[in-house]
Amino acid sequence: MSLWQKHAIFEKNSIVLVIGILVVIAIGGLVEIVPLFYLKNTIEKVEGVRPYTPLELAGRNVYVREGCYLCHSQMIRPLRDEVERYGHYSLAAESMYDKPFQWGSKRTGPDLARVGGKYSDDWHRDHLKDPRSVVPGSVMPKYSWLAETELDFKHVAQDLKVQALLGVPYNADMIAKAQADVVTQATTDSPDAADLAKRYPKAQARDFDGNPASVTEADALIAYLQMLGTQVDFKLYDDKANIR
Ligand code: HEC
Repeated sequence: MSLWQKHAIFEKNSIVLVIGILVVIAIGGLVEIVPLFYLKNTIEKVEGVRPYTPLELAGRNVYVREGCYLCHSQMIRPLRDEVERYGHYSLAAESMYDKPFQWGSKRTGPDLARVGGKYSDDWHRDHLKDPRSVVPGSVMPKYSWLAETELDFKHVAQDLKVQALLGVPYNADMIAKAQADVVTQATTDSPDAADLAKRYPKAQARDFDGNPASVTEADALIAYLQMLGTQVDFKLYDDKANIR
C-alpha cells in the first residue's frame, strides 16, 4: 500500500479524521504556548515606567469606580491615524503596573493613554465638574461630586500591599509612607516633595483641584490623569521606534 493509499483511511473514516485534526492542532498549540511557560516575563522593561504613587493609585481607583473605562480606552494602537491623534503608540510596559488593566474596549470619548500634560489642572477640574463648560458638544456625564468629596485614603497602604502581592514592586518603605505620600503629593510646595520623587521619579506634586484645604477625589483623579502617558521619555526612542 502506497502512502497515498494510507491517506484514504482518514478520508473514509470521519472519527479517524477528527482525531488526526486534533493531533495536528495540538502540536501547533504546543509550539505556540509551551515557550511562554519558560519566559519569566513577556513584557520588555522600559526606562521610566514606575509604579503609581499612592495618590495616583487612589485616583485610578476613582477612575475604575466611576466606570471611566466604559467610554475611554488607554491603548494607542500602532496605526498612523491613532499615532497622529494621540501620540506614540502604547507600549506593553506602560500598563505593566495596571492591575486590572485599563485598556478599555470602547471609545465614546478619546483614548486617554497620553492625556497627561495635555490640559491644565483647572481644565480637568472644570471638565469633570461639567464637561459642557469646556467642550460645548460633549456627551460626557458630569462628575461634580469628585471635587466636593474628601478622598478616603485610610486604607491606601493596604492597597499598595495588595498591588505588591500582584507583582507591583512596592517596597516596605513605600507602603509605610503611603498615607503621608498622598498628602505630600496633593500639596503645592510640600517640603517632602523631593523625598516623594525619590520613591516615585517624576511624580508631580501640587494641589491638583485648586482647593488646598482638603485632599479630594478630584485631586487623586487629576493627579492620575496628569501622569498618564508621561512616564516614558519618547525623545530617547523617537527616531528608532516611531512609525511615522
Ligand atoms: C458616557 C461616556 C463617558 C464617560 C463615562 C466618561 N467620559 Fe470622558 N469623555 C467622553 C467624551 C464623549 C469626551 C470628548 C468630549 C469632551 O472632551 O468632553 C470625553 C473627554 C474626556 C477627556 C478629555 C480627553 C481629551 O484628550 O480631550 C478626559 C480627560 C476625560 N474624558 C476623562 C474622563 C474621566 C476621568 C471619566 C470618569 C470619571 C470619564 N471621562 C468618563 C465620554 C465619557
